[in-house]
Amino acid sequence: MTMSEVPWVEKYRPRRLSEIINQTKAIEQVRAWVEAWLHGNPPKKKALILAGPPGTGKTTTVYALAREYGFEVIELNASDERTYEKVERYVQAAYTMDILGKRRKLIFLDEADNMEPTGAKEIAKLVDRARNPIIMSANHYWEIPREIRNRAQIVQYKRLSQRDIIKALVRILHMEGVTIPKELLYEIAKHANGDLRAAVNDLQTVVTGGVEDADRVLAYRDTEKSVFQALAQVFATDNAKRAKIAVLGVDMFPHELLQWIEENVPYVYYRPEDIARAYEALSRADIFLGRAQRTGNYSLWKYATDLMTAGVAVAGVKKKGFVKIYPPKTIKLLTESKTERTLRDSVLKKIMAEMHMAKLEALETLNYLRAIFENNPEMAAHFVVYLDLDLKEVEFIAGDPERARRIWARSMNIEKRMRRETELEARAREAARKAGEEAGEELSGEELEEAEKEIEAVGKKKEEKRKGKQATLFDFLKK
Ligand SMILES: Nc1ncnc2c1ncn2[C@@H]1O[C@H](COP(=O)(O)OP(=O)(O)OP(=O)(O)O)[C@@H](O)[C@H]1O
Ligand SMILES: [Mg+2]
Repeated sequence: MTMSEVPWVEKYRPRRLSEIINQTKAIEQVRAWVEAWLHGNPPKKKALILAGPPGTGKTTTVYALAREYGFEVIELNASDERTYEKVERYVQAAYTMDILGKRRKLIFLDEADNMEPTGAKEIAKLVDRARNPIIMSANHYWEIPREIRNRAQIVQYKRLSQRDIIKALVRILHMEGVTIPKELLYEIAKHANGDLRAAVNDLQTVVTGGVEDADRVLAYRDTEKSVFQALAQVFATDNAKRAKIAVLGVDMFPHELLQWIEENVPYVYYRPEDIARAYEALSRADIFLGRAQRTGNYSLWKYATDLMTAGVAVAGVKKKGFVKIYPPKTIKLLTESKTERTLRDSVLKKIMAEMHMAKLEALETLNYLRAIFENNPEMAAHFVVYLDLDLKEVEFIAGDPERARRIWARSMNIEKRMRRETELEARAREAARKAGEEAGEELSGEELEEAEKEIEAVGKKKEEKRKGKQATLFDFLKK
């Protein structure tokens, strides 16, 4: 889907209050409040807070309301530090307009749960002096500063049910004149978790991407669910904190996240200077990542992640509309990226088990292994035996099939040698046993010792090898 296509969430956004699904009680409260304004007796609480989960109709309500009652909406972002100034300016303008008999103004403050404390005081003052209705919207009512909450009436929006969502999707399909399999529809509705915006976006992706691909699209979105969602959030906000929070639950290493963000910057920003600023933040993030890797100081990851989220989110003016997130080209082939990840995980698991390491240490070790596999095939081969790696895993670490095969061949030789030693050991045991049999009960203490020694000698070699397993990579390297 291209950016120029109209996002269905906009195309099918209800224009009238009556078209808003399953928020009847909320809408009633909103109507009553606004009518109080219009009938010349402003309500006791001069601000209204629409609170509830994302994609349930809050913003839609404000615009439908404005359309029905003839308001002009002045939309402001509550998390913007300059909001207070802007509000002042707009309100002044609004008064002037009133005198000139222009349209009534309705002030809409989005993201009221993400307000700066200083801004909150100013906005509280503004509410006290308000001559226009002020509506705010928030996902988390309790995160709205108290001085604002005290001055506002709250209207609660419900999470939409799966049935609500299916109904809405069916309506859209009907208007578009397309159909999709029922199971797919249910899948999308389930996936949305009460968020109609998410469902509509998924539907558009599936329909535009071709239903044949839907399984893959949805499967992909499922495994990568948090990346797509998180990045859409990062790119939808101008607020640094929001951007940072958005990626918290993403199950991905920072290097990968960086690739994803890098890939999407040019789709989201369009002014060259903004794109440059975003890349600047990314390259600084990359420097931190490099440093973390070199020094083993993985606390630097946090700075890197902050730079690539917050730094990118505030880089400039974003394109309006549907933000489709693209997977990075370098790991674009789904199967490839998946195999890579699976391989990395299985190698990490082996390192963690064999070397008794936590994940971060194992990750660090993997990086050392990469260097070893590149420069020292003999040592690499020992690691192959030691970690019991398979050829695919060796290829993954070596990063080059040719090199991998050379290392693999050496590891086979090492294994052969080890097998021979085991055989030798077995033979020595057998000899000792025979000697004992031949001597009957009369096997002398010396003879017994002799045999034991022989066994021990072979055993020791094996023991040394095994000991390595409990040691760290560095102990291993010392040998
Ligand atoms: N109750 C609803 N009835 C009809 N359409 C809805 C409803 N809720 C959401 N939608 C659809 O989902 C899209 C997003 O809705 P909206 O912008 O109103 O969400 P929101 O509640 O403001 O979410 P957020 O908290 O993320 O700002 C709209 O385009 C609209 O088409
Ligand atoms: Mg909204």
